[in-house]
Amino acid sequence: MKKFAVIGNPVAHSLSPVIHKAFANQFNIELEYGKIKADIGKFAASADHFRDQGGVGLNVTIPFKQDAFDWADALSERASEAQAVNTISFNNGRKFGDNTDGIGLVQDLKNNLGVELEGKSVLILGAGGAVRGVLGPILAQTPARILVANRTAEKARQLVESFAGSGEIAACVPDEIPAGDYDLVINATAASLDGSVPSIAGSLVENSALVYDMMYAAAPTVFMQWARANGAGRVCDGLGMLIEQAAQSFMRWHGSMPDTQPVFSVINRQLGRA
Ligand code: ATR
Repeated sequence: MKKFAVIGNPVAHSLSPVIHKAFANQFNIELEYGKIKADIGKFAASADHFRDQGGVGLNVTIPFKQDAFDWADALSERASEAQAVNTISFNNGRKFGDNTDGIGLVQDLKNNLGVELEGKSVLILGAGGAVRGVLGPILAQTPARILVANRTAEKARQLVESFAGSGEIAACVPDEIPAGDYDLVINATAASLDGSVPSIAGSLVENSALVYDMMYAAAPTVFMQWARANGAGRVCDGLGMLIEQAAQSFMRWHGSMPDTQPVFSVINRQLGRA
């Protein structure tokens, strides 16, 4: 049986095994999909060990996506652009790194939420690895403009500079976000992890068609609650992005694109949601 796993720290609550097994059932593919908790600083040793034990593919989660990028010996274009790897394929000992996070977000927006990015005004909060991972695929959809707002100005500026040739993209700090209508507001900060909300004016989401939190939990995140309280049209979390990025990884490994719709109900049940 082909062996796969998700590697992270922490990893105990990862939904990836359930998602990949549900996809595999659609094609009668038998696979083993485990969880590997690697010690910080030990990503390479753990990933090499998995390969030596016959592992075929790995998903990489927090905090190892950048370690995986440094360790891979070949990269997809989207992984090089993201400078992060979330999907590894072992092929004759070769370590190939891909990144399906950005395409996962775009697929969730387009296919599940019916949101086209072309010509839209997009506000992204945060400038860490999560944002770097999605900027390329978002820009490829030709939005009218993207504004990246981050409390550390220099980080946003540097990030935006590396994508400057790919579209209309600018950086600022949260206090300087110009008032205006942002069709889509994406929270990609780690603020939700400590239960806080990035400090931006509530009026910025008032006229947004969609406010998207890349985080997800059993209950609506604090950012989602804040956006609703401030009049956002529609609010959703990052569960769809998780499922869609997994589908793209599955495609890379097995050459078949799974149907993600039935997996939403499996995962919602798993999370204790309706
Ligand atoms: P990730 O890979 O998940 O993006 P990261 O690289 O550590 O993680 O980036 C975390 C992002 O969340 C950063 O943009 C960070 O802002 P700074 O660059 O100013 O540190 C942002 N962030 C974390 N906690 C936040 C908070 N409480 N409010 C606003 N932004 C926050």
